[in-house]
Amino acid sequence: MTKKQTKAFSVNDSKKTLHRNLEFIATEQYKLLRTNLEFTLPEGDACPVIGVTSPMRGEGKSTTAINLSYVLAEKGSRVLLIDGDLRLPSVAKKMFIPSTPGLTDLLMGNTFNVNEFQTDLLKNWYIIPSGHIPPNPSELLGSRRMEAIFTKLREMFDYIVIDLPPVNLVSDALSVANLVSGMIVVIREDYTEKKELERCFRQLKLSNFNILGCVMNNSKAEMGTYNRYKTQKYYKEYAYPPSNKEPEA
Ligand SMILES: Nc1ncnc2c1ncn2[C@@H]1O[C@H](COP(=O)(O)OP(=O)(O)O)[C@@H](O)[C@H]1O
Ligand SMILES: [Mg+2]
Repeated sequence: MTKKQTKAFSVNDSKKTLHRNLEFIATEQYKLLRTNLEFTLPEGDACPVIGVTSPMRGEGKSTTAINLSYVLAEKGSRVLLIDGDLRLPSVAKKMFIPSTPGLTDLLMGNTFNVNEFQTDLLKNWYIIPSGHIPPNPSELLGSRRMEAIFTKLREMFDYIVIDLPPVNLVSDALSVANLVSGMIVVIREDYTEKKELERCFRQLKLSNFNILGCVMNNSKAEMGTYNRYKTQKYYKEYAYPPSNKEPEA
């Protein structure tokens, strides 16, 4: 399968793919995902932490993380969405909120009041954006400080959803292995390549992740009229610091 070189999504298209702007059929799919998670999340976990990743960029991780956290909050739970893509953060931009203060500020030891991150859309939906982009995202995400922050946050919420970078491009997503209850893998129809997906699963398995399931984004089979969004947006390449080269397959 080859990647489709098509024009970028328009701003209006991307608005239609988020939270309350979603078309009915897409909202129903996210609600189905919410229901399915009830069966795949470990029982007795007072605040499951759900990681969202995919093999490559542009497959719909951030879109899925936003919408999943939204439908979870819609049901009344206290939900926190964290932008853990510290290389190409996009949650703040998509949600029209400031990107700082955010996760990196918390990781740098700054104190915070979680109420600062409450959204305007739902009073029980909170979003922590990335904060300033650091030079060493993998180290920060796998740090003791990150563990301490999560221990605190888990006491305050019913669910935490963390938007992560793609597994096959950088090792950041793998560094949260001991923080997440499980991982959702986003696949984009007509875009994600089979070999990349296999590689992604291999990496996740090697790091002992509990794979909660896959989301088929932009699916023609399930999304009905939603399939008109068949274009692919290309943006900034992920940066590879010299010490953090793309892992070998
Ligand atoms: N099902 C979809 N239909 C239309 N546009 C989509 C869909 N899923 C994602 N997009 C758009 O594709 C682009 C990449 O999605 P994004 O969620 O940012 O991917 P990732 O986080 O995996 O890089 C964004 O502009 C987003 O609005
Ligand atoms: Mg993203």
